[in-house]
Amino acid sequence: MLMNTQTGSAAQQLIDFIDASPSPWHAVASAEERLLAQGFTRLEEGERWQLTAGGRHFVVRGGASIIAFVMGSRPMAETGLRIVGAHTDSPGLRLKPKAALAGDGLVRLAVEVYGGPILATFADRDLSLAGRVVVRGATGAKTRLLRFEQPLVRLPNLAIHMNREVNEQGLKLNKQTELPLILGLLGEGEDAVANLRTLLADAVEDQAANLLTWELAVYDVQKGCLWGAKEEFIADSQLDNLASCHAALNALMATDDPSATCMAAFFDHEEVGSESASGAGGSFVSDILARICLQAGLDGEDKYRAMARSFFISADMAHAYHPNFPAAYEPGHKVMVNGGPVIKSNANQRYTTGAETAARFIALCESAGVPCQQYAHRSDLGCGSTIGPIVAAQLGIASVDVGSPLWAMHSVRESAGARDHSYMIAALEAAFES
Ligand code: CO
Repeated sequence: MLMNTQTGSAAQQLIDFIDASPSPWHAVASAEERLLAQGFTRLEEGERWQLTAGGRHFVVRGGASIIAFVMGSRPMAETGLRIVGAHTDSPGLRLKPKAALAGDGLVRLAVEVYGGPILATFADRDLSLAGRVVVRGATGAKTRLLRFEQPLVRLPNLAIHMNREVNEQGLKLNKQTELPLILGLLGEGEDAVANLRTLLADAVEDQAANLLTWELAVYDVQKGCLWGAKEEFIADSQLDNLASCHAALNALMATDDPSATCMAAFFDHEEVGSESASGAGGSFVSDILARICLQAGLDGEDKYRAMARSFFISADMAHAYHPNFPAAYEPGHKVMVNGGPVIKSNANQRYTTGAETAARFIALCESAGVPCQQYAHRSDLGCGSTIGPIVAAQLGIASVDVGSPLWAMHSVRESAGARDHSYMIAALEAAFES
């Protein structure tokens, strides 16, 4: 038996969204395309804004962060805002500025580790490059998105005959010397640097001489899929955290004439600490909130009233229980794939959740008719964190950390529950309508 149609189609839409988004810059472009198709208009931070009740807009900062919002019908000082936050970036490998390495008749590309990926999962995968390049144009520099569709680079494993302990010790890779990716053979008299420039310029149909700079992420070309006896699971790259972005985006787009102003804020740089101009630790969300309040005619006093009545849901993936590794989990807080949205709690405030905000999210799940779970990390293991505490500390609004259960977080190929994705969309829709 297959999943019911609604669940199956939400999961398939997520797979399509991720397949269209091999880098955080592409994720923002994918979100933008969907928002434009739903009647949202793009605002520029450098222009003057005119916002009215019911207005549907979005703003992009730095190319990989985006905030979309729907202006509420009731006074903001009375309703506050409903905000869902997530992140667009995923851990992995990024090309260094001068990436081409020539030697032994081969060209390899030097990479930097971005955030905390499980490096071994990048070995023997069909990898490629996606991101953005800046080219010289007649009227100034232009940024172009770039994506190689075909498997372009590879990190072949070392044969077991030279690495006899690999199954006992695990695959350990030196980040400087053992991660460069093989790009191709280098012919007699060929220039690896020039070849790479030509390859990148050709991909954006421009001249190598016009190519100024680039930021390129390594991605896995294998498309996402449903798997399992009943196709009840999803496998894809970047489920952390494009699954939360997609859920919040769908929930926001489904919101029709809300009484409170609703916002979905997706940030770059979460995997590296969020401290950047476009990251959750920067001014992006507070700047956009200030402008929305100005446009809604709120004075300073009313802005504080609006913030005091607001609710922030930080959505990032949660660690699903893996029965092969029971010792890794807190035995009283096993969260199960397809068991519904997870409320993440940590007494040391690695998550923002408190008793009152957790209760509020439980009520939202109840009103949406979806199950809900609670997670706590083992006390003898360091707990992860996310944008929740960073945004909550900055805005001072009531917050909760939630997420869908995920296996293999930070693998190049993660797994989650198809049903969980529909559940999360429904819970976030309820939040926007509350
Ligand atoms: Co995450």
